[in-house]
Amino acid sequence: MQVILPAREVTDSGKRAHMAIMQEESHRRGRRASRKREGRGGILEADDARAQAAFRLSSEPDGRFSGRRQTKEGQARKVHDAAQRLAAIVESSNDAIIGKDLNGIVTSWNPAAEQMFGYRAEEMFGESIRRIIPPEVLPDEERLMSAVARGERTEHYETLRRKRDGECIEVSLTLSPVFYRSEIVGVASIARDISQQKKVEQALNTSEKLAAVGRLAATIAHEINNPLEAITNLVFLAQGHTKDGDGELFLKQAQQELERVALLTKQTLGFYRESKGARELTLEEIVLPLVAAFSARSRLKQVSVETEFRQNPTIVGVPGEMRQLFANLLNNSIDAVKDGGRIRIRVSATRERSGRRRSGVRLTISDNGPGIAPELRKKLFDPFFTTKRELGTGLGLWITSNILCKHEGNIRMRSSVVPRKTWTAFSVFLPERLEAVASAA
Ligand SMILES: Nc1ncnc2c1ncn2[C@@H]1O[C@H](COP(=O)(O)OP(=O)(O)OP(=O)(O)O)[C@@H](O)[C@H]1O
Ligand SMILES: [Mg+2]
Repeated sequence: MQVILPAREVTDSGKRAHMAIMQEESHRRGRRASRKREGRGGILEADDARAQAAFRLSSEPDGRFSGRRQTKEGQARKVHDAAQRLAAIVESSNDAIIGKDLNGIVTSWNPAAEQMFGYRAEEMFGESIRRIIPPEVLPDEERLMSAVARGERTEHYETLRRKRDGECIEVSLTLSPVFYRSEIVGVASIARDISQQKKVEQALNTSEKLAAVGRLAATIAHEINNPLEAITNLVFLAQGHTKDGDGELFLKQAQQELERVALLTKQTLGFYRESKGARELTLEEIVLPLVAAFSARSRLKQVSVETEFRQNPTIVGVPGEMRQLFANLLNNSIDAVKDGGRIRIRVSATRERSGRRRSGVRLTISDNGPGIAPELRKKLFDPFFTTKRELGTGLGLWITSNILCKHEGNIRMRSSVVPRKTWTAFSVFLPERLEAVASAA
C-alpha cells in the first residue's frame, strides 16, 4: 500500500494513526533493499527518512536466521503479510474507504474514493472532509463524528455527498472509530454509492403509481360510458320533441359536447386496450377530427388553430395511440397560450436529419404561449412533472414519449422565453414503417 503522508499538512493524531503503517512499510522496504544490496548473508541497517523509523535486520553469514531471530523475523513477516492483505482489500474495494482524524482531516483515501468523488488521493490528504459534504447535511455529519469520537459505530447511514463536478450522490456510510494504543485517534468511513439503487427504487415506485393511475383512468372511462350513452340518446330524443328554436340549438350543442366526452372516454379506454392494432394511416385523418373535437375548448379561449398539410404520407401506427399523442400536445398548447393566442400544426413528408435517415412524417405544433424556461426543459418528459399544480397530472408528455418510443419515432422541443417573442414548438417524427413490425412479419 502506498502511503502518502505530507507531514506538514496532517495533524498530530492523524500522524500517530499512520505511524504503525509507516513503520511496517519502512520495515518492508528496508528488508527488500537489504536483500538486493547485500545478498542473503549481509547485515545492514535501513532508514526511512519520512517515518523516522529505523530497523535492524540481521542473519547468520550462511544466510539462515538464528532460532530467536528467525521467530522475530517470522512474526514480522506475519504482521507484514497481514498488513499487505489488508492493504490489498482496501485498494481493490468497490466501496470508498476513507480515513480521517477527529477534526475531519483526511488521512487516507483509496482508489474507490477517487473514482466515487473525483478527487485524487494527493488532493485530499490533509484536506477537510467537508469538501465532499453538502452544507445541508453538515450538521448530521458533525453529530455522527462526535458519536464516533465517543467510541460509537454507525452503520448504513444514508446521506449525501458532493462529487468534484458538483453532482450530489446518495451514499450509505459506515463510520467506526480507529484506535491506537486504546486511544481513539481517527475515524474510518466506508461509503457505498447507492444513487443507482435509489433511482431503481424510485422508478419502481413511479411505475406502481402509473399502473394504479392507468387502472383508475380505465375504470372511470368505462363507468362513464354507460350513462353517457343514455344521455346521448335522451338528448337525441329531446331534439325531436322541441319546437323552440333556441332549445333546439342548445340541444344540438349539448350533443356535440357529449360526442367530445364520448371520444375522450374511448381514447382513455383505447389507450390501455389498444396495444396491438397498428395499421396504415395518415396524420390528416388523426389530426383533423382532433382539432374539431377541441374546437369548443379553443373557441372558449378564442385561440386560433391553423393546420397545414404540406404532404400527407401514409405511415403505420396504432390509431388510438396516435390520437392520444397529438391530443396531449394540442392540449398543452391550448393550456399555454393566452386568450386570443395562436397555434399552428404543420405536417410534411420528411427524412430523419441524422442517424438512420429513415423516411417518414414530421408534425410540428407551435404556439405563441409563454415558452418553457431552460431549467425546466430536462424534466418535461418525466412522469408527474407539471407546472399546472392541481390542474395537471404531468403525465401528458411522458405518455407521448412512450407512444413515440413504441412507434420508433422521436420528439424535439424548441422554445423561446425572450420577452415579447415567446413561443414553443414540439416536433414529432414518425417513420414510414415500423421495423419491429417488419421484422415480426
Ligand atoms: N406548449 C407548451 N408551452 C409551455 N409549457 C409547456 C408546453 N407543453 C408542455 N409544457 C410544460 O410541460 C409540463 C408537462 O407537460 P405534460 O403534458 O407532461 O403535463 P401537464 O400538461 O402538466 O399535465 P397533463 O398530465 O394533464 O398533461 C407542463 O406542466 C408545462 O409546464
Ligand atoms: Mg399536458
